[in-house]
Amino acid sequence: MSKKAFIFDLDGVIVDTAKYHFLAWQKLAQELGIEFTPEHNEELKGVSRVRSLDIILELGNVTASQEDKNKWLFQKNEDYLSYLVDIDESEILPGVLPVLHYLKDKNQLIALGSASKNARPILEKTGILPLFDAIVDGNDVSNAKPDPEVFLRAAQLLNAKNEDAIVFEDSVAGVQAANIANMTSVGIGDDKILHEAKYNFKDFTFIDVSFIEALIN
Ligand code: BG6
Ligand code: MG
Repeated sequence: MSKKAFIFDLDGVIVDTAKYHFLAWQKLAQELGIEFTPEHNEELKGVSRVRSLDIILELGNVTASQEDKNKWLFQKNEDYLSYLVDIDESEILPGVLPVLHYLKDKNQLIALGSASKNARPILEKTGILPLFDAIVDGNDVSNAKPDPEVFLRAAQLLNAKNEDAIVFEDSVAGVQAANIANMTSVGIGDDKILHEAKYNFKDFTFIDVSFIEALIN
């Protein structure tokens, strides 16, 4: 049996935290008088915190000083973190744990490839940190998805070739990053939004053993 590198995005793929990012951004947008809808939010998924704020400000045609931007970035993160205080394994999305454990059982390599600077505490709180052979997060990379840096680094740490890597992503930017890296992209979510992904599943409960087996072999 061959060894493949399975790289997982975090927010909206492993844990149900994408909704907290949305709520925190929406609160800030409201305070700034900027309309911010779930459709707008799709553009923010997978994107770094700094770039996300710029997108929201562009939406509202707002120009701001660096000082104000720093203040808002801090405020957004504080709001986001307030949602994370009590999280535990119940935040893990349905169907994810069985897939992670199956891959472990089959001796496959598992990495995290996330834009978030809050990734490690989330993995710790949800109890799944030991399942990962490598972690690359927002603290390790300088180029945000769709730049493939985060996934290229993960494959490097796993000593895997890019073409042997499979990436699970809920964001358009992340699917594009995986494709640019010449990895197999698996979209998790709406297939109309994630139409650039090689495969698509509404969520992990739709992924069965035969699909994973086919990816391994
Ligand atoms: C990504 C999320 O995983 O991480 C984005 O999809 C988020 O919504 C980005 O902005 C950065 O996260 P953080 O926790 O560093 O602000
Ligand atoms: Mg995501």
